[in-house]
Amino acid sequence: MIPSPTDTEALANRINLHTRDAHNKVDTRLSIKMAFVMRHDFIYIDILKNFFLIFYTIESNINSILNCDESDNEQLFRTREILNQFYVNEFRRTDKTAQDLHFFQIDTDKLLQEKLDGSLPPRLNEFIQYIEYNVQKDPLTILAYCHVLYLALFAGGKIFKSTFMRNMGFLNNYKTELSQRELILNVTNFFYFSDHPQEELKLKLKYKENYELATRNGLTEPEKLMIIDTSRDIFRYVYNIFEEIGQSNREKLLSFRNFRIISFLLDEWKYDTDNSKSKSLKFMFGIIKYTLLIIFFFLLWTTIKSLYSLTK
Ligand code: HEM
Repeated sequence: MIPSPTDTEALANRINLHTRDAHNKVDTRLSIKMAFVMRHDFIYIDILKNFFLIFYTIESNINSILNCDESDNEQLFRTREILNQFYVNEFRRTDKTAQDLHFFQIDTDKLLQEKLDGSLPPRLNEFIQYIEYNVQKDPLTILAYCHVLYLALFAGGKIFKSTFMRNMGFLNNYKTELSQRELILNVTNFFYFSDHPQEELKLKLKYKENYELATRNGLTEPEKLMIIDTSRDIFRYVYNIFEEIGQSNREKLLSFRNFRIISFLLDEWKYDTDNSKSKSLKFMFGIIKYTLLIIFFFLLWTTIKSLYSLTK
């Protein structure tokens, strides 16, 4: 029994409904930036690093919940019972993301050390602290991540992946014996839940069905409201994290004295939703176009004039 999208009682649908505006905001922002982002390996790597640490934090908490027993706190044990009904190992993302990062020779142990030292970028650090604190305070909040972050990979994640596939020219910089297809598979494990699309779909449907069965009667209304609130926060944190990635890479790009700056600025202008910017870009291009036209006619006129005087 997969909840129909119109089933307003289903917790997953309620989360989707209450985060619709936040989703639209993050979706619009990311869709605009995506085509550009995907052309640069270091931005893709940064996204993977962030999500490696986010999923590591979530999955470490899931592990402690799954490993608890009846002698532990009652709420923890209840959460374990609910998680056991739908969470499957195929969903785990930590190792998958680590595989992608290892391809790019990123030391994931070093990332985990940075997490322990608290020396991560501020927005990422904030989100990780928020997850830890909230799950400690109320283990049931883990159910918000189980819906929002894992299912995001099936919808937006697919769009993200296909944009990435179309824009991964940067992979040509990596000298390897692998075919293009193998190369792509080696850096996109994060997005794959199974080697077969049919299997992947089945996994997703089963997950959604079991999530619904486990949460419909297994939670009180205040608990459901708390999970919806956490889901809203997740969108806010994820939005901020993408902004932070954008900002830090903007600085990285601007510190390069090469064509990346030009391509970056052009893309920024091209995709920026800010009206005033696009207007001034059009204005700038307008001036360049008319200047070139004037130069062209001036040259044409002087050539015709000199040809005419030669024939005289
Ligand atoms: C480029 C950015 C994104 C795009 C284009 C995108 C697109 C989509 C689409 C097309 C759907 C399916 C809607 C439907 O079936 O009615 C969806 C669902 C969803 N997305 Fe996104 N999304 C993006 C980013 C995100 C992010 C960053 C998150 C999480 C923070 C997220 C979380 C979700 C969730 C939880 C669902 C509902 C899944 C379900 O109930 O099966 N999305 N998204």
